[in-house]
Amino acid sequence: MVDQFLEYVEKHQNDFIERLRKAVAIPSVSSDPNRRQDVFRMSEFLIDELKALDAINVETRDPGQQDFHGTPLPLPPIVLATVGNDPAKKTILVYGHYDVQPALMEDGWDTDPFTLVEDEQHRLLGRGSSDDKGPVLGWINVVEAHKSLGLEMPVNLKFCLEGMEESGSEGLEPIIHEEADKYFKDVDSVCISDNYWLGTTKPCLTYGLRGVSYFHLTVQGPARDLHSGVFGGTVHEPMTDLFALMSKLVTPDGKILVPGIYDQVRPLTDTEEKTYDNLAFEMHELHDAVGSAINIHDSVRHVLQHRWRHPSLSLHGVEGAFYNPGDKTVVPARVVGKFSIRTVPDMELDKVTELVTKYVNDEFKKLNSKNTMKIVCSHAGNHWLASPEHWSYVAAAKAVERVYKVKPDLTREGGSIPITLTFQDALKRNVLLLPMGRGDDGAHSINEKLDRSNYVEGTKLLGTYLYEIAAAKPE
Ligand code: BES
Ligand code: ZN
Repeated sequence: MVDQFLEYVEKHQNDFIERLRKAVAIPSVSSDPNRRQDVFRMSEFLIDELKALDAINVETRDPGQQDFHGTPLPLPPIVLATVGNDPAKKTILVYGHYDVQPALMEDGWDTDPFTLVEDEQHRLLGRGSSDDKGPVLGWINVVEAHKSLGLEMPVNLKFCLEGMEESGSEGLEPIIHEEADKYFKDVDSVCISDNYWLGTTKPCLTYGLRGVSYFHLTVQGPARDLHSGVFGGTVHEPMTDLFALMSKLVTPDGKILVPGIYDQVRPLTDTEEKTYDNLAFEMHELHDAVGSAINIHDSVRHVLQHRWRHPSLSLHGVEGAFYNPGDKTVVPARVVGKFSIRTVPDMELDKVTELVTKYVNDEFKKLNSKNTMKIVCSHAGNHWLASPEHWSYVAAAKAVERVYKVKPDLTREGGSIPITLTFQDALKRNVLLLPMGRGDDGAHSINEKLDRSNYVEGTKLLGTYLYEIAAAKPE
């Protein structure tokens, strides 16, 4: 039966690409309130697709409203759908997100980000192609293949699709807890396809993610923007305070300066050290991915350890700063510095917020400034680590060997999918990350792409994984 499925996918790849084209055309940017309607439209697109495939039950849950700088904004629905409910079969929960990062032509895209374009190298370019519309549609392609062939699915499938992942998964966590004994009751294992291969040639299975805690640091002083000629040298300037504080968060070689942060990091054991032997990754792949040879660490091992299992602190931007071209002699009245910390086992979210808040307050006091300063954690998502010995990983490894004829690497990731640990803890089930795209897909960047072969072979992989689960001996 798996051969019939594989043949169907091969034959119908252009139809699958049309499905992706329709999805990419909906600019479902969750961080932009002006695009919220499009995020809702994207949920309707998925609901229609699932209903057309006789998903037995397509339901939604309403996560309520978001407080967007004081304005209430409705949150897009959680889309739930069940395909098959045979008690003799395993039930796999598939999570994915249908929102995307912002994308503008001005950012430097070569083609319109919301028009799927296939280039000469068979790369499917468009925002969300790899993160995460391609993989979500991959699962739907699997269901379509079975329906069209009149084949039974090898397992029961449950979908949980959200539209706020890129903005911290607001509203999803309470729904998972609430539904743990209801919608999610029969789930045996969870599979998420929302990450990437380590490099560009070899598939991987992923068992770890970093968490992320995001901070807003506001400094406010004058009642309005000021002329620097008239007031420069006579008042405490908010941006000067902000830069003084931001410069004390992290060193140029990546060391976090917040006291106590490293105390919570799990020590590296010899056993863990061995997991970094023989991974299919070379320094030039880091250079290619960033477009420059600006590595802090000289060995691949240390690059990956700093990506996967050490915390990092990044400075993201300053709201309220003068950033246009040209010269303007302004003293901004209020500036908000944004930074985030990627967290790792065994860091605790509350502890991280406490340490950062105390340190920034102490440093601000040292400035003797008469401005006011406020630091808040705007969102925080947990890190996650699973045990890759679980039957779901065994089945996935077999599926990779069948489709790609290679043994997958076992990897962790530096990025975050905030809800992963919630699934593991609330459902008490194993979670597997099974990526579709390549390490150079450019998620969040300009010219995001998914190679045609990754979309097609990736769809085959997701389906084959379900067959391998069904074929495994009961544990
Ligand atoms: N698909 C990514 C997660 C990811 C990133 C996996 C890098 C592997 C490598 C996801 O859509 C994402 O970008 N998540 C955000 C979460 C944040 C907004 C809470 C992230 O990591 O910045
Ligand atoms: Zn994603």
